[in-house]
Amino acid sequence: TSYNLLLLPGDGIGTEIMAEVKTVIDWFGKRGVASFEYEQDLVGGSAYDAHGKAVSEATMAKALAADAVMFGAVGGPKWADVPYDVRPEAALLRLRKDLALFANLRPAICYPALAEASALKRELVEGLDILIVRELTGGVYFGEPKEIVTLENGQKRAVDTQLYTTSEIERIARVAFDLARTRKSRVDSAEKHNVMKSGVLWKQVVTKVGAEEYADVSLGHILADNCAMQLVRQPKQFDVIVCDNLFGDILSDVAAMLTGSLGMLPSASLGAPDATTGRRKALYEPVHGSAPDIAGKGIANPIAMIASFAMALRYSFGLVEAADLLERAIAGVLDKGLRTADIYTEGTTKVGTHEMGAAIIAE
Ligand code: NAI
Ligand code: MG
Repeated sequence: TSYNLLLLPGDGIGTEIMAEVKTVIDWFGKRGVASFEYEQDLVGGSAYDAHGKAVSEATMAKALAADAVMFGAVGGPKWADVPYDVRPEAALLRLRKDLALFANLRPAICYPALAEASALKRELVEGLDILIVRELTGGVYFGEPKEIVTLENGQKRAVDTQLYTTSEIERIARVAFDLARTRKSRVDSAEKHNVMKSGVLWKQVVTKVGAEEYADVSLGHILADNCAMQLVRQPKQFDVIVCDNLFGDILSDVAAMLTGSLGMLPSASLGAPDATTGRRKALYEPVHGSAPDIAGKGIANPIAMIASFAMALRYSFGLVEAADLLERAIAGVLDKGLRTADIYTEGTTKVGTHEMGAAIIAE
């Protein structure tokens, strides 16, 4: 099978970490795992410099046609004064919107070799492997009305609207249940049905989808604030957590701090399956930004970006063994003591971006 990838390295360390992913893609291609074709294009500040827009229409067309988009990172001080709607970060919002990427997957994996870097005690996080499934295109970040109005008495009133429909909840629930079937067959749904109508509907719909379509997956319900507390108290009790856009934003950042460094965290954003091919639009990116403070020095950690490609292998191409292999290779180089500067500790071996990429391939 042949897959077509669009590589959008972006700005800052984006180009440095994408170079390592290219070598990884080529390695899998040469091994005959699948045939990958890729094209690279500008996005973010570099695209703005070239044609005055953070993402061109031609690039958008390529993204829509691709089997998966690999996205580096965008932004930096150079574009601080660029108008709001063409700023580098607008590219990501446009891609998410036009590709209708409603499901954001954020794994929180704690590699044993890095357990000391966690905010928690080693025994609480060692071997941790949870997946947060966040609804990405609905909820309070997008609901209308969204405004600040001035009242007759001179006071101002700010309004954001938390809004979810049955079908929006059903489709994110199905993503979570499907993923749970490939893992420990357990989903916890986080909401606040005690104080929010959207939470009441969320709980009802997730329960119904679970009972009617996924009787084999066990489903738990947890209030989102309690979920935040439990993530810090006893994170290994969870496998897949599904939640709305706002709670997912917060819970995934909490989970991130359990695993050590920003340079280690991959993510995937998925759309609906195509009616004829069954393939989902998808974008894979590290959680971190363009790290202007270390850009151009060859010291950025490429693991978040490479682990994002492992997610593409798993979720877009169904190449589960290849994804496992790549993830084991990442764990393997960490076990051998190789560290980029961001995860370096005394007694380990400090390496640069390219050395880390090469070591993962060797492993
Ligand atoms: P950042 O994630 O770029 O950097 C935060 C800190 O983590 C920095 O000290 C950086 O050196 C370090 N860091 C991040 N990734 C690293 C890696 N792979 N290896 C080693 N160290 C790493 O966040 P910051 O500084 O708030 O934002 C910088 C720029 O990136 C801004 O323009 C921001 O808007 C943009 N940004 C873009 C994102 C995206 O493209 N998805 C996400 C977050 C921020
Ligand atoms: Mg956040």
